[in-house]
Amino acid sequence: MLNGERLIARPLRWGMVGGGRLGQVGYKHRSGALRDNTAYQLVAAAFDIDPQRGRSFGVNLGVSEERLYDNYQAMFAAEAERADGLEVVSIATPNGTHYEITKAALNAGLHVICEKPLFFTSAEVVEIRELARAKNRIVGVTYGFSGHPLLMQMRAMVTSGLLGDIRIVDLQYTHGFNATDAVDKISDAQKWRVDPKVAGPSFVLGDLSTHTFYMSQLIMPHMKIRELLCDRQSFIPSRAPLEDNARVLMHYENGAVGTLWASSVNAGCMDSQKIRIVGSRASIEWTDSRPSELRYEVQGEPRQILDRGMSYLDDICNAEERMGALHTEGLAESWANIYLRIARAIDATSRGDTSLLETLVYPGIEAGLDGVRWIENCVRSADQGAVWVDFE
Ligand code: NAI
Repeated sequence: MLNGERLIARPLRWGMVGGGRLGQVGYKHRSGALRDNTAYQLVAAAFDIDPQRGRSFGVNLGVSEERLYDNYQAMFAAEAERADGLEVVSIATPNGTHYEITKAALNAGLHVICEKPLFFTSAEVVEIRELARAKNRIVGVTYGFSGHPLLMQMRAMVTSGLLGDIRIVDLQYTHGFNATDAVDKISDAQKWRVDPKVAGPSFVLGDLSTHTFYMSQLIMPHMKIRELLCDRQSFIPSRAPLEDNARVLMHYENGAVGTLWASSVNAGCMDSQKIRIVGSRASIEWTDSRPSELRYEVQGEPRQILDRGMSYLDDICNAEERMGALHTEGLAESWANIYLRIARAIDATSRGDTSLLETLVYPGIEAGLDGVRWIENCVRSADQGAVWVDFE
């Protein structure tokens, strides 16, 4: 169980690029990183594309005014001159800026925590992976709900063989907030999401399904996709060529089959993500609208609901438990766990503790690469007319 006690020697000196006053995801980064007050300390930022707004926001957050910068270039240069300068920076800006900011941060000697989808192409990720290796720095990726303790329970149940052979994987990340084009007209954050120059080669495949795809890999680390077929479309024509709805069929190397549905036009849906794993003996199912409950269904037996925080859960699940059973825990704790996992990876890297580093489970650059490859393969299939393609 986590109680906020420090797991690394001292908090990392942390900064942000983006995630400013009007940014959608910035608060989730701060609440995740600062939750325990022992892993990160927010010391500097270039919060906003509008420097003045970024400064006034930073002052209101309590960041020292002299360390609020007009842009990330100025921040990386000035912080490198300080004895107490930044060690790690989070990037919470629109997709099209991730690559250049990550590259600049690594070149400035910083560890990076970047939003998904990491970059536009897998070639860019491979290049940055080499740079990160050369600089001995971590690149983490914030797949928001993937730090929830019950996902580790699912991982333990799958990898111990409790479900039997995995046969069917059913994944979903959908909502209905874009069922009409009303949001496209008023929200800057929605406008860039359907502009390929800023969003990249996809909308919902990158925006939504990269999360669920990573979570499926976290739960089933041994399962690799052999080939997939993706059908994507835009029900609101102005969003084309990017999709507001996509269906993917998957064939795994072990013979299992899967489906993933990503959509922002699933009118009325408030369930968000659903993950169902069907094995030859039993199935498990989790949805982030009821994150504290894991359905465990053994063929021929009464269905069970495993509740978060209970002692019958696996140790790797309860190790990241914060509130205890009976008390709700959700997205905020999940973000805190992701940030903590990445902090431990950064700390182990800095100390040269490679044996610890190998045991840590966190969304690093390989998870970022897999997410970008996932998008590339889906788009390649869809744009050939929804055909099966080998997963490259
Ligand atoms: P947004 O458009 O709401 O906010 C972007 C923020 O970045 C704004 O504060 C803007 O002023 C700032 N910004 C833009 N360019 C900048 C630059 N060059 N330098 C400094 N600041 C800059 O975008 P949103 O929705 O917050 O998404 C940001 C990223 O986070 C995207 O990559 C998106 O895919 C991802 N995201 C991830 C979520 C998750 O659960 N992990 C949830 C929502 C978004």
